Amino acid sequence: MHNFDFLNPTKLIFGKDTIGRIGEEIKSGGARKVLLIAGGGSIKKNGVYDQTVASLKDIGIEWVETWGVKPNPVLSKVREMIDLAKKEKVDAILAVGGGSVIDSGKAVATGMCIDDVWQAFEARDQLVEKAMPVYSVLTISATGTEMDQYAVLTNEEENKKWNIAGPALYPKVSIVDPSVQTTLPWDQTVNGALDAMSHIMEYYFIGGRSETTLALDESLFRTIVQMTDELKSKPDDYESRANLAWAATLALNGTSGAGQGGGDWASHGIEHGISALNPEVAHGAGLGVVFPAWITYCQDANPAFFKRWAKNIWDAESVEDGVSAMKAKLKEWGAPTTLAELGVKRPQIRDIAVNTVEFGLTGAVKQLTEDDIVNLLSLASPE
Ligand code: NZQ
Ligand code: ZN
Repeated sequence: MHNFDFLNPTKLIFGKDTIGRIGEEIKSGGARKVLLIAGGGSIKKNGVYDQTVASLKDIGIEWVETWGVKPNPVLSKVREMIDLAKKEKVDAILAVGGGSVIDSGKAVATGMCIDDVWQAFEARDQLVEKAMPVYSVLTISATGTEMDQYAVLTNEEENKKWNIAGPALYPKVSIVDPSVQTTLPWDQTVNGALDAMSHIMEYYFIGGRSETTLALDESLFRTIVQMTDELKSKPDDYESRANLAWAATLALNGTSGAGQGGGDWASHGIEHGISALNPEVAHGAGLGVVFPAWITYCQDANPAFFKRWAKNIWDAESVEDGVSAMKAKLKEWGAPTTLAELGVKRPQIRDIAVNTVEFGLTGAVKQLTEDDIVNLLSLASPE
């Protein structure tokens, strides 16, 4: 077991009818005026917007709204929002939506403290130590951003989907009311589950003797699969939503990697390469295609742990059977299992590999070269 520091400063407020608490939390944090950031409008349809602004009004917090953050959020929109935040002299960010909205909020918060926000992404080895306070109301459980120190953004002019990290990026307070996720389309529920499963796998396959964490990871993984199965037939079931939501938060809030000495993250790097070049590809859907190929390609680098995953998660006797079981589950859920089903054409594979290597997240279980990434992605693209 590796040494580790554990500090997660985000206050997570979890459960039904909790959105109304956001105003008092912002007030007790000392902010008086916030930039309310939102996406394409789902929060207007499901009542989250009304609950949020009622809470701000009740307690006397002023706000300015900005809408239109897209899935796979982009730099130009973040720059526009930074200008607005400066003009309006807000003193905190309130992101209401999914990972794309919250990550944009974190990027705005970072950009408020430096000349140009993209500088932080270019200096990505330096942790973000200073940012405006971020509050969030989460509407889709997937990324873990509600309780983590990361933000991902695409520089659409340069086709770079990169991330920043640092202690200043933990939200001060995040509200997770799983009941508002019943309005998610089925494919978004699945994308969220696949992202959370992937976060667990990024840590798990490192192996080692961190048995407490490994056992926790297996439980989280199985719970995510079970809850997603339940939601397929009963999308309104609160208990299934709540358990999926909590597992997704735990998958990237520091708990699932404690003692592992870091994660692999190559699959995430490759998926970011895919969606940098194909912004219509959802992060979770991309991971569902990349991860089985990555497991097949890398299994010899740490065979005991790939076999353990196959056995303990899928009750399979071989890694091949484990991968087949995972793909069968994805098919049952209606998720893509090939690049073609994602809308990605085979001739683009080399460009994706080049894009991935440029960022540099190429693996810890096995260090992948550009050619390795081409070979790995070819497994996800049968001719
Ligand atoms: O834009 P709106 O109208 O809100 O609709 C969204 C969007 O179309 C919709 N949605 C969200 N909540 C809903 C809802 N629709 C109905 N009812 C609800 N309750 O879902 C769509 C997807 O939203 P998005 O925010 O893009 O999803 P997600 O949370 O999966 O975020 C993905 C982004 O986060 C990054 C990804 O790369 C991608 O850019 N990631 C962030 C990480 C982090 N900060 O730690 C780690 C991850 O590995 C990941 O890279
Ligand atoms: Zn992810």
